[in-house]
Amino acid sequence: MPDTLTIKDNRTGKTYDISIEHDTIRATDLRQIKVHDGDFGLMSYDPAFMNTASVKSTITYIDGDKGILRYRGYPIEQLSAGTTSFLEVAYLILKGEAPTKTQLEEWRLQIKQHTLVHENIRKLMESFRYDAHPMGMFISTIAALSTFYSDARDIFDGHSRERQIHRLIAKAPTIAAFAYRHSNGLPYVYPDVELSYAGNFLNMMFNTGSSKPALHSVLEHALAVLFILHADHEQNCSTSAMRSVGSSHVDPYAACAAAAAALWGPLHGGANEAVLGMLDQIGTASKIPDFIKEVKEGKGRLMGFGHRVYKNYDPRAKIIKKLAHDVFEVTGKNPQLDIALELERIALEDEYFVKRKLYPNVDFYSGLIYRALGFPREFYPVLFAIPRIVGWLSQWEEHVLDSDQKISRPRQIYLGRPERNWIPIDQRT
Ligand code: ACO
Repeated sequence: MPDTLTIKDNRTGKTYDISIEHDTIRATDLRQIKVHDGDFGLMSYDPAFMNTASVKSTITYIDGDKGILRYRGYPIEQLSAGTTSFLEVAYLILKGEAPTKTQLEEWRLQIKQHTLVHENIRKLMESFRYDAHPMGMFISTIAALSTFYSDARDIFDGHSRERQIHRLIAKAPTIAAFAYRHSNGLPYVYPDVELSYAGNFLNMMFNTGSSKPALHSVLEHALAVLFILHADHEQNCSTSAMRSVGSSHVDPYAACAAAAAALWGPLHGGANEAVLGMLDQIGTASKIPDFIKEVKEGKGRLMGFGHRVYKNYDPRAKIIKKLAHDVFEVTGKNPQLDIALELERIALEDEYFVKRKLYPNVDFYSGLIYRALGFPREFYPVLFAIPRIVGWLSQWEEHVLDSDQKISRPRQIYLGRPERNWIPIDQRT
């Protein structure tokens, strides 16, 4: 029988034919496998979803063994080659096809119209402490947007979804820049709709009072490429959070805030911040062998290395490594690049890393560019979250419109106590 899997249950001697579609069996097909009628049926146990597909998606394709990443079929190398803008890629990811010139113009206009935030959002941000982590401010403010746009709750209305998508993509850089200006006690710079998406963001961050934005085209281009490389990455931790929270039909601001919270962790989008911490800690190239020895002894991880899906060089890291050289031509070389290059060289030859297929991931070199551009270290996860909002929204929309989906609700294997009687506190020993 083609495209089926025959399972024999040795507890009962019964056999079952289970359909295979897209090289996958449906976990619920296992439920018919029972020892007796009252039995719940067989489940699969898969902590951290190591081998469980929970969605069918048409957005992003990754082949982790070959180091391939494509958005809607287009290789990441082509999309980041310099001729495509971030908003063009955002359109592609969200709508499935590349825009025509007219569509792109209309799309840009829509985004630009929404770049300002309500003045109460600005006031809300002012109430954060001066030393609040920018990612904490970003997450809270994205969540707060939900209180300004009650129409966002109408998630099955296509026009409403589209409006929230425009708002979130447009306002994320403004909120991020306000978080930075707030931490530094600087006056806020309002959006300039004449600038590119990345250029406007850099201007809101770093303009020190000039009426003309002081932008260097190489640096603006570098940030736009980084935004493109971070726009989506299929079912990672934060995207799963977006889909899972969104499956309760909450509005997209609340779901995006949850996704951003997931991104903040040092094993995910917080790794770029951790890489720079690691490079600071290593300090000089002569200390690299001792550091690698400690990693191999389990006393910490080589941050920016390893990936759940890529068991080859992360294609984004290759592009970012080259980009770092372009940026350093303008800003002057940061000696930490040499430490990073040497760390990579040693790790790629070391049996520990080779055996475990640990290669540089997207975060290994991105922090060095962010530092060269003038962003403080704690700001790096925010720089990851801004473009990833595009991916989250695209995956969220696919999820809420997917008739296969329901509210996310994993099963558990209960290994706790069986039923027992409650003993009042004064009778407990
Ligand atoms: N340094 C040293 N050893 C590592 C590293 C690392 N960076 N990553 C994995 N390993 C080792 C583990 O200790 C484990 O070894 P063992 O088999 O002897 O126990 C083995 O490699 C497998 O590691 P897991 O943790 O099981 O791999 P998993 O797929 O769960 O983790 C992860 C992937 C979280 C990315 C991991 O590689 C890691 O912690 N890397 C460092 C943090 C990082 O760079 N995160 C960014 C990822 S990219 C992103 O989110 C944008």
